[in-house]
Amino acid sequence: MSRVQNINNIRFSSPITQSKISYEKKPLLNYQYNLSKDTVSFQGKKIEKEDKEIFSCKDNLALAEKVSRESEVELGETISKKFQNGETYVRLKDDVDDKSVFVLNSGNDPVNDNLMEFRQMVDAAKRSGAEKITAILPYLPYSRQDRLSENGESVAAKMVADDIENAGVDKVITFDLHSPQIQGFFDIPLKNLSAGPVFAQYFKQKGDMSEFMVVSPDVGGVKRAENLSKMLGTETAIIHKKRAEHNKAQAVAIIGDVKGKNCILIDDMIDTAGTITEAVKMLKVNGAKDVYICATHGIFSGNAYENIKNCPVKEVVVTDTLPLPENAPKTIKQLSIANLIAEEI
Ligand code: R5P
Repeated sequence: MSRVQNINNIRFSSPITQSKISYEKKPLLNYQYNLSKDTVSFQGKKIEKEDKEIFSCKDNLALAEKVSRESEVELGETISKKFQNGETYVRLKDDVDDKSVFVLNSGNDPVNDNLMEFRQMVDAAKRSGAEKITAILPYLPYSRQDRLSENGESVAAKMVADDIENAGVDKVITFDLHSPQIQGFFDIPLKNLSAGPVFAQYFKQKGDMSEFMVVSPDVGGVKRAENLSKMLGTETAIIHKKRAEHNKAQAVAIIGDVKGKNCILIDDMIDTAGTITEAVKMLKVNGAKDVYICATHGIFSGNAYENIKNCPVKEVVVTDTLPLPENAPKTIKQLSIANLIAEEI
């Protein structure tokens, strides 16, 4: 059965259970997309087809459409489907010979299927004569498995980096890597962009910043919090987080006086929302006024929505590195990083 979804004006069918997976693009307002011609027009302005083309895996077409609009680089047509035995099939329908190709994948769930689709898209571009292939991986999957925490584990982030390179990628564009040292896993150029300026611009509109404080929900995120503090002109507080087991976070202490302050918690990602909801509770117990949360990557797995609904948070702000489903709680707001990607293109 085909399941048709509507995400930011883009209609696509994502029949994971079907053998054939396909999507159709629907023109956005004022945006005429004509793949059969050499030009696209955006708000009446004609854009000549250049030697660049973007291809998107189907997990974040909304972002791909926005990047295409902002960069005025065509979004190419693909066939992407699954055989009955679960294997992925990908074909680029446009000629990419001698072109600079951008392949976008958001690392969304089902992560491994999406990674395979991405790798096949890169391989297809390479075999079709693409001159340069840039991977746009706004959220780098497996990035939290960047070291051995216990004997016998794998460093999956390094494996993924090797896979990306081996597939034929020449350059990677990503956002707010879980740890900056992941850059060293790649032997090709990697641009680690930050959503910080997007959050800063947003929160500056919330009023007098002297009443605000930026908070890191764990020690690993201090640098990120300090960067946002600098942009907003606020103080920084730090929460000490412990993890007794995978996906279970516990806030145990706070460094900094948050009493009477509006707090902006910043993290690289929200997965189960355990880290940030624990942090919100800790801030409230310590006398914080309104608490806002911002995180670049909104993964929202497991009970994340329930956790957010049951938590005294004013607003949760994420970006569109990952798609936000329509059933997400209304407290979650999504900002776009499409223009930052477009600038790189
Ligand atoms: C951990 O070090 C990360 O920066 C995030 O805080 C964490 O991955 C978020 O996961 P969750 O939402 O499941 O607590």
